[in-house]
Amino acid sequence: MVLLYNDDCTDILRHMEDNSLDIILTDPPYGIEYLSNHYKDGNPFSEIIGDDEFPAYLIPEFKRIAKKAVFVFCRWDNLIETEGLEKPKSFIVWVKNNWGMGDLQHEFGRMWEGILFYPCEEHEFEKRLPDAIHCDRVPASQLVHPTQKPVPLLEQLIRNNSKPGDTVLDPFMGSGSTGVACVRSGRNFIGIEIDETYFDTAEKEIKKAQNQLSLL
Ligand SMILES: C[S@@+](CC[C@H](N)C(=O)[O-])C[C@H]1O[C@@H](n2cnc3c(N)ncnc32)[C@H](O)[C@@H]1O
Repeated sequence: MVLLYNDDCTDILRHMEDNSLDIILTDPPYGIEYLSNHYKDGNPFSEIIGDDEFPAYLIPEFKRIAKKAVFVFCRWDNLIETEGLEKPKSFIVWVKNNWGMGDLQHEFGRMWEGILFYPCEEHEFEKRLPDAIHCDRVPASQLVHPTQKPVPLLEQLIRNNSKPGDTVLDPFMGSGSTGVACVRSGRNFIGIEIDETYFDTAEKEIKKAQNQLSLL
Protein backbone atom coordinates (compact mmCIF):
# COMPACT_ATOMS: atom_id res chain seq x y z
CA MET A 1 0.00 0.00 0.00
CA VAL A 2 1.26 3.47 -0.93
CA LEU A 3 -0.70 6.55 0.15
CA LEU A 4 0.54 10.02 -0.84
CA TYR A 5 -0.72 13.45 0.26
CA ASN A 6 0.18 16.76 -1.39
CA ASP A 7 -0.46 18.74 1.78
CA ASP A 8 0.96 20.36 4.92
CA CYS A 9 1.96 17.49 7.22
CA THR A 10 1.17 19.44 10.39
CA ASP A 11 -2.55 19.30 9.50
CA ILE A 12 -2.50 15.59 8.63
CA LEU A 13 -0.41 14.51 11.65
CA ARG A 14 -2.88 16.18 14.02
CA HIS A 15 -5.61 13.84 12.77
CA MET A 16 -3.58 10.64 13.03
CA GLU A 17 -4.39 8.29 15.90
CA ASP A 18 -1.96 7.26 18.66
CA ASN A 19 0.18 4.20 17.80
CA SER A 20 -1.42 4.01 14.36
CA LEU A 21 1.64 3.01 12.29
CA ASP A 22 5.04 1.41 12.80
CA ILE A 23 7.88 3.74 11.80
CA ILE A 24 8.30 7.46 11.12
CA LEU A 25 11.44 8.07 9.08
CA THR A 26 11.78 11.64 7.95
CA ASP A 27 14.14 14.32 6.73
CA PRO A 28 12.52 17.66 7.53
CA PRO A 29 13.91 20.98 6.31
CA TYR A 30 16.88 21.87 8.52
CA GLY A 31 19.36 24.09 6.78
CA ILE A 32 20.20 26.21 3.83
CA GLU A 33 21.55 23.39 1.65
CA TYR A 34 19.51 24.59 -1.26
CA LEU A 35 21.30 27.94 -1.15
CA SER A 36 24.80 26.40 -1.10
CA ASN A 37 27.26 27.31 -3.84
CA HIS A 38 27.50 23.63 -4.73
CA TYR A 39 26.10 24.09 -8.22
CA LYS A 40 28.48 25.54 -10.82
CA ASP A 41 25.75 26.64 -13.24
CA GLY A 42 23.25 27.90 -10.69
CA ASN A 43 20.89 25.92 -8.50
CA PRO A 44 18.36 24.06 -10.70
CA PHE A 45 15.95 23.44 -7.81
CA SER A 46 13.21 25.53 -6.27
CA GLU A 47 13.58 26.78 -2.69
CA ILE A 48 12.67 24.29 0.06
CA ILE A 49 9.57 25.39 1.96
CA GLY A 50 10.27 25.83 5.69
CA ASP A 51 14.06 25.57 5.30
CA ASP A 52 14.62 28.29 7.92
CA GLU A 53 13.33 26.18 10.83
CA PHE A 54 14.01 22.64 12.07
CA PRO A 55 10.54 21.42 13.20
CA ALA A 56 11.67 19.85 16.51
CA TYR A 57 8.22 20.62 17.94
CA LEU A 58 6.83 17.74 15.85
CA ILE A 59 8.98 15.06 17.53
CA PRO A 60 6.49 14.41 20.41
CA GLU A 61 3.74 14.14 17.76
CA PHE A 62 5.83 11.57 15.82
CA LYS A 63 6.32 9.56 19.04
CA ARG A 64 2.60 9.63 19.73
CA ILE A 65 1.82 8.16 16.29
CA ALA A 66 4.61 5.56 15.83
CA LYS A 67 4.58 2.15 17.54
CA LYS A 68 8.14 1.01 16.75
CA ALA A 69 10.55 3.86 16.06
CA VAL A 70 11.08 7.46 14.97
CA PHE A 71 14.09 8.58 12.91
CA VAL A 72 14.62 12.30 12.19
CA PHE A 73 17.49 13.63 10.06
CA CYS A 74 19.18 16.76 11.35
CA ARG A 75 22.50 18.57 11.64
CA TRP A 76 24.53 18.92 14.83
CA ASP A 77 23.47 22.55 15.15
CA ASN A 78 19.78 21.55 15.34
CA LEU A 79 20.38 19.69 18.60
CA ILE A 80 19.89 22.85 20.61
CA GLU A 81 16.34 23.01 19.24
CA THR A 82 15.57 19.62 20.82
CA GLU A 83 16.34 20.91 24.32
CA GLY A 84 13.47 20.23 26.69
CA LEU A 85 12.21 17.32 24.56
CA GLU A 86 12.74 13.63 25.29
CA LYS A 87 16.40 12.70 24.77
CA PRO A 88 16.96 10.50 21.72
CA LYS A 89 18.27 7.01 22.46
CA SER A 90 20.89 7.23 19.70
CA PHE A 91 22.39 9.91 17.51
CA ILE A 92 23.16 8.07 14.29
CA VAL A 93 25.81 9.53 12.01
CA TRP A 94 25.49 9.12 8.26
CA VAL A 95 29.05 9.40 6.91
CA LYS A 96 29.15 10.46 3.26
CA ASN A 97 31.76 9.69 0.67
CA ASN A 98 32.68 13.35 0.12
CA TRP A 99 32.41 16.77 1.74
CA GLY A 100 29.81 19.46 1.39
CA MET A 101 30.74 23.12 0.93
CA GLY A 102 29.62 25.26 3.88
CA ASP A 103 31.83 28.22 4.87
CA LEU A 104 35.06 27.59 2.93
CA GLN A 105 37.07 30.04 5.08
CA HIS A 106 36.06 29.11 8.63
CA GLU A 107 34.27 25.76 8.75
CA PHE A 108 35.59 22.21 8.45
CA GLY A 109 34.26 20.36 5.38
CA ARG A 110 30.92 18.78 6.24
CA MET A 111 31.10 15.04 5.76
CA TRP A 112 28.23 13.71 7.85
CA GLU A 113 24.61 14.30 8.82
CA GLY A 114 22.85 13.19 11.98
CA ILE A 115 19.75 11.10 12.55
CA LEU A 116 17.90 11.29 15.89
CA PHE A 117 16.62 7.86 16.89
CA TYR A 118 13.71 7.36 19.31
CA PRO A 119 12.61 3.75 19.91
CA CYS A 120 8.89 3.41 20.73
CA GLU A 121 6.99 0.86 22.85
CA GLU A 122 7.03 -1.97 20.29
CA HIS A 123 10.56 -1.41 19.00
CA GLU A 124 12.72 -4.44 18.30
CA PHE A 125 15.84 -4.59 16.14
CA GLU A 126 15.70 -7.04 13.23
CA LYS A 127 19.46 -6.49 13.22
CA ARG A 128 21.40 -4.08 15.46
CA LEU A 129 23.55 -1.66 13.45
CA PRO A 130 26.43 0.53 14.65
CA ASP A 131 25.56 4.22 15.09
CA ALA A 132 27.85 5.33 12.25
CA ILE A 133 26.64 4.30 8.81
CA HIS A 134 28.76 4.84 5.71
CA CYS A 135 26.77 5.41 2.54
CA ASP A 136 27.54 7.33 -0.66
CA ARG A 137 25.46 10.44 -1.29
CA VAL A 138 23.37 10.61 -4.47
CA PRO A 139 25.63 11.86 -7.31
CA ALA A 140 24.77 15.46 -8.31
CA SER A 141 23.96 14.32 -11.88
CA GLN A 142 21.21 12.01 -10.52
CA LEU A 143 19.59 14.40 -8.04
CA VAL A 144 15.87 15.11 -8.47
CA HIS A 145 15.70 17.02 -5.15
CA PRO A 146 18.36 19.31 -3.61
CA THR A 147 18.58 17.41 -0.28
CA GLN A 148 17.82 13.92 -1.59
CA LYS A 149 18.83 11.10 0.74
CA PRO A 150 20.25 7.82 -0.63
CA VAL A 151 17.71 5.00 -0.82
CA PRO A 152 20.22 2.33 0.42
CA LEU A 153 20.69 4.30 3.67
CA LEU A 154 16.93 4.57 4.26
CA GLU A 155 16.44 0.94 3.30
CA GLN A 156 18.96 -0.18 5.95
CA LEU A 157 17.12 1.74 8.66
CA ILE A 158 13.74 0.38 7.56
CA ARG A 159 14.78 -3.26 7.10
CA ASN A 160 16.61 -3.44 10.44
CA ASN A 161 13.83 -1.87 12.53
CA SER A 162 10.58 -3.20 11.03
CA LYS A 163 9.06 -6.24 9.37
CA PRO A 164 7.70 -6.75 5.83
CA GLY A 165 4.12 -5.47 5.72
CA ASP A 166 4.74 -2.81 8.40
CA THR A 167 3.77 0.79 7.66
CA VAL A 168 6.28 3.66 7.40
CA LEU A 169 5.36 7.38 7.33
CA ASP A 170 7.52 10.17 5.90
CA PRO A 171 5.74 13.49 6.54
CA PHE A 172 8.45 15.53 4.67
CA MET A 173 8.94 13.12 1.77
CA GLY A 174 10.66 15.42 -0.79
CA SER A 175 11.40 13.27 -3.83
CA GLY A 176 9.97 10.14 -2.19
CA SER A 177 13.25 8.32 -1.34
CA THR A 178 11.70 6.81 1.81
CA GLY A 179 8.78 5.59 -0.34
CA VAL A 180 11.19 3.98 -2.83
CA ALA A 181 13.00 2.27 0.09
CA CYS A 182 9.62 0.97 1.34
CA VAL A 183 8.66 -0.41 -2.08
CA ARG A 184 12.01 -2.20 -2.31
CA SER A 185 11.73 -3.63 1.19
CA GLY A 186 8.05 -4.64 1.06
CA ARG A 187 6.76 -2.09 3.61
CA ASN A 188 3.59 0.01 3.27
CA PHE A 189 4.26 3.73 2.81
CA ILE A 190 2.46 6.96 3.67
CA GLY A 191 4.13 10.10 2.31
CA ILE A 192 3.30 13.80 2.70
CA GLU A 193 4.85 16.66 0.70
CA ILE A 194 3.69 20.28 0.67
CA ASP A 195 5.40 21.38 -2.56
CA GLU A 196 3.46 20.37 -5.68
CA THR A 197 6.56 20.01 -7.88
CA TYR A 198 8.36 17.77 -5.38
CA PHE A 199 5.12 15.86 -4.76
CA ASP A 200 4.90 15.07 -8.51
CA THR A 201 8.57 13.98 -8.46
CA ALA A 202 7.91 11.66 -5.50
CA GLU A 203 4.88 10.13 -7.22
CA LYS A 204 6.99 9.40 -10.32
CA GLU A 205 9.96 7.98 -8.38
CA ILE A 206 7.74 5.65 -6.31
CA LYS A 207 5.83 4.49 -9.41
CA LYS A 208 9.18 3.81 -11.14
CA ALA A 209 10.30 1.67 -8.17
CA GLN A 210 6.99 -0.27 -8.25
CA ASN A 211 7.36 -0.90 -11.99
CA GLN A 212 10.97 -2.03 -11.59
CA LEU A 213 9.86 -4.44 -8.89
CA SER A 214 7.08 -5.92 -11.02
CA LEU A 215 9.60 -6.55 -13.84
CA LEU A 216 11.81 -8.70 -11.58
C1 LIG B 1 14.82 17.93 3.35
S1 LIG B 1 13.55 17.73 2.21
C2 LIG B 1 13.27 15.98 2.11
C3 LIG B 1 14.10 15.33 1.05
C4 LIG B 1 13.85 13.84 0.95
N1 LIG B 1 14.38 13.14 2.10
C5 LIG B 1 14.42 13.24 -0.30
O1 LIG B 1 15.24 12.29 -0.21
O2 LIG B 1 14.08 13.73 -1.40
C6 LIG B 1 12.14 18.29 3.09
C7 LIG B 1 10.87 18.37 2.27
O3 LIG B 1 9.79 18.73 3.16
C8 LIG B 1 8.87 19.54 2.43
N2 LIG B 1 8.08 20.30 3.41
C9 LIG B 1 8.40 21.44 4.07
N3 LIG B 1 7.43 21.79 4.94
C10 LIG B 1 6.47 20.83 4.84
C11 LIG B 1 5.21 20.61 5.49
N4 LIG B 1 4.77 21.45 6.43
N5 LIG B 1 4.48 19.51 5.15
C12 LIG B 1 4.93 18.64 4.20
N6 LIG B 1 6.10 18.80 3.54
C13 LIG B 1 6.87 19.87 3.86
C14 LIG B 1 9.75 20.41 1.53
O4 LIG B 1 9.02 20.87 0.41
C15 LIG B 1 10.88 19.43 1.17
O5 LIG B 1 10.65 18.82 -0.07
